[in-house]
Amino acid sequence: MPNQTFTFEIQRFDPASDAGPHVQAYTLDVLPGATVLEALLRIQAEQDGSLAFRYACRGAVCGSCAMTIDGQTRLACRTQVHALETGTITVAPLANLPVVKDLLVDVDSFLDKTAAVQPWLQAAEAGPEKEYLVPPKDWHEAEAYTNCILCASCQAVCPAAGRDPAYLGPAALAQHYRFLADVRDEADEQRLRLVDSEQGVWGCDMVWNCVEVCPRGVPPTRGIGKTRARIRRAQREREREREEEET
Ligand code: SF4
Ligand code: FES
Repeated sequence: MPNQTFTFEIQRFDPASDAGPHVQAYTLDVLPGATVLEALLRIQAEQDGSLAFRYACRGAVCGSCAMTIDGQTRLACRTQVHALETGTITVAPLANLPVVKDLLVDVDSFLDKTAAVQPWLQAAEAGPEKEYLVPPKDWHEAEAYTNCILCASCQAVCPAAGRDPAYLGPAALAQHYRFLADVRDEADEQRLRLVDSEQGVWGCDMVWNCVEVCPRGVPPTRGIGKTRARIRRAQREREREREEEET
């Protein structure tokens, strides 16, 4: 595939000086194989040093560069320009998060929600003498949820997150399920209480957008469904115990 000229229509917004967002176009010759992140870095270096965006690893590991590219939520460092098969590429910030400047979004509330689900192991105080040994069959359920890179792509495509800023969101609920599914964790009852609300697992529309968009194969909706099932099961057990006490 030859070198080709592309137009990048980039959403710009500087809250310090702009009344609202506007689109600015840049043209660039792009080599085959170059990513959108590489194109943005060249635009910033060669044409407009004021363009703001976030990145770090350039290798789909840190989760910093998620944005809306050609109308879809993607990692800029994993999206090749030529593969988009269009001469005009729109680039905008992630949806459902406040814009700090241009393509840079404020992820504080997103990270706070992840922290709110207590994403750490809560095991018995006296742990094993050496390491915990988890049989592969028991680890399998939690494993997919350990791959999250906190890119917030799922947050951007989640209709419930768009509707309710207080909704914990797919990434936090996926982290929550990662520990609920971990056989070493012993805080199940407390964990289930944490998300048993409309801002927790009951707020999910179950449309699976988050599963489709996730660049790491994390399936938040599946975990949310399993957490709901655990909450219902715990409720049934409590009711059965109450009935037994009354008879
Ligand atoms: S679950 Fe997937 S899409 Fe959501 S933050 Fe984690 S890696 Fe990104
Ligand atoms: S720069 Fe790290 S995921 Fe893209």
